Amino acid sequence: MDIIDCLLRGHKELRRLMSAVEKCLPAQYLDAEQLRPETMEKFKQAENRLIAKLTAHEKLEQCFLVEAEKAMKPEESSCLAAVMSDHESINDISSILSYLSGLGSEATAYSIRFAVSSFFYRINQHMNYEEKVAFPCLRRMISPARIAAASKRAAAALEQAPQAKGHVAT
Ligand SMILES: [Fe+2]
Ligand SMILES: [Fe+2]
Repeated sequence: MDIIDCLLRGHKELRRLMSAVEKCLPAQYLDAEQLRPETMEKFKQAENRLIAKLTAHEKLEQCFLVEAEKAMKPEESSCLAAVMSDHESINDISSILSYLSGLGSEATAYSIRFAVSSFFYRINQHMNYEEKVAFPCLRRMISPARIAAASKRAAAALEQAPQAKGHVAT
């Protein structure tokens, strides 16, 4: 199993965590209705688990892609450009999700449900693109040995970034 297989496995886990967040929210609600405190607590816990996993996943993925890109000719790496620029907006999404889970009684069930659905749609689009376009392109363009080498360099780069420690293994 190489790093791409691990990242694909991470997508499965992320989808499971997104579904767990959605299941915390009531299916029916009134516009100005607020989440009950115990529902809000469950939502925050599920969302915190998702954000931790998402942040770690995208950080590792981005480091790997930066290293993999170095092993490719510029004309070969164009399939990675969209994913890499996406990662910046995914970071923003993580911050907004953190903000959402920090909200208290000012958040309505409607606003939380709306934000969660929009963000999850966006995250799914990103993962689908990686699965259908970026990762297959990487496998076609560079050898397994180069993928393994890029994976090692990415792990080393993450190890050197103090704030990244503890994320890679999740
Ligand atoms: Fe990604
Ligand atoms: Fe990914």
